[in-house]
Amino acid sequence: MTENLIIFNARVVTPIGFSARCGREMEEICIMDDATVEVTGGVITYVGPNRGEDRDGYYQRYWHYNARGKCLLPGFVDSHTHFVFGGERAEEFSWRLKGESYMSIMERGGGIVSTVAATRNSNFIQLRGKAEGFLKQMSVMGVTTVEGKSGYGLDKETELLQLRVMRSLNNDEHKRVDIVSTFLGAHAVPQEYVGRTDDYVDFIIREVMPAVVQNRLAEFCDVFCEQGVFSIGQSRRLLTAARDMGLALKLHADEIVPLGGAGLAAELSAVSADHLLHASDADIHAMADKGVVATLLPLTAFALKEPYARGREMIDAGCAVALATDLNPGSCFSGSIPLTIALACIYMKMSVEESITALTLNGAAALNRAGSIGSIEVGKKGDFVVLNTDNYHFLPYYVGMNCVHATVKEGVLHPVL
Ligand code: NIG
Ligand code: FE
Repeated sequence: MTENLIIFNARVVTPIGFSARCGREMEEICIMDDATVEVTGGVITYVGPNRGEDRDGYYQRYWHYNARGKCLLPGFVDSHTHFVFGGERAEEFSWRLKGESYMSIMERGGGIVSTVAATRNSNFIQLRGKAEGFLKQMSVMGVTTVEGKSGYGLDKETELLQLRVMRSLNNDEHKRVDIVSTFLGAHAVPQEYVGRTDDYVDFIIREVMPAVVQNRLAEFCDVFCEQGVFSIGQSRRLLTAARDMGLALKLHADEIVPLGGAGLAAELSAVSADHLLHASDADIHAMADKGVVATLLPLTAFALKEPYARGREMIDAGCAVALATDLNPGSCFSGSIPLTIALACIYMKMSVEESITALTLNGAAALNRAGSIGSIEVGKKGDFVVLNTDNYHFLPYYVGMNCVHATVKEGVLHPVL
């Protein structure tokens, strides 16, 4: 659904450009007071100073919204989540509180594999209903585009089911959040293949990936490249096959140990490498050279009590950094945009301006969409966040609290507060 909408008297706060902002450019935010943004049929057709009198009743074909005292930002892009799954893992969180590690729980058959069992036991309606609930919460926090991954099926039928759920939600005429789908068949080794990881990679490449591609169910392929999960060699084999089949590439890289996944992302010119808690200096520079977006997920580091990724150093090295939530039932059961921004500013030493770029234009670039979303410019989608303040510093300052007044999706205004 699209609309004609004129937002006037706004303080527009936006990065500028149709590609990722790298290094120092991330700080450059355009701030425009007493601004008007016009959206026609869901697409931005004017951004500039407030205009005068109506010409020939032209404005009567538009909804009008007075944004006096409010900031207007591009809609947030949450470019890394796992929001379609069955069950939950609250008990694991308590085990971790008592000192057990994420990987040791996974090694004794819990973790991802336990969500796989719950997802295999769920049907389309159950998965869709639960995922729809998460989408509503995302919209309330200003998200207008989200990436979602499969990876809780680990068999052909359930991987395709997860992706079909995302397609169905994305086809909803009244959706408030666009969905970009990623195939993550290599998220863990399922019980049937324990001790035979190479055979599982073969199965994914031969049986599942072609079906994903033929049915156009995903744009990206991702892999959990981690010690004890998929090695650098196995990840390379999988991602090379994915690229040959036309999928763009992402990696869960250097999340738990420094394995070199960020370097592999640079070698393969992946669109993004994500997590990067333990990425080496050399690999950070390689990512900057190759234009791989560094997607940082501070909520996961927070929930796992791990050290934060070196966001400041990555930006100083010239990387394009994106921020995302990683919403999933295990390592990070949170999709909180306000807390993500606060952690990025407080612990990863990013400025508010850099965090805004990271959650908008660079998030869009991490999804190959910087040409159509991520900034408030003519020709892009009319997707916005309206803050209930004219001071965008509230985003980290109002720690973990929501200062979103309304979300606009392709010109349709959805009030929040
Ligand atoms: O990004 N590390 C791998 N995947 C997710 C966690 C998934 C889960 O625990 O269910 C992550 O942290
Ligand atoms: Fe993840």
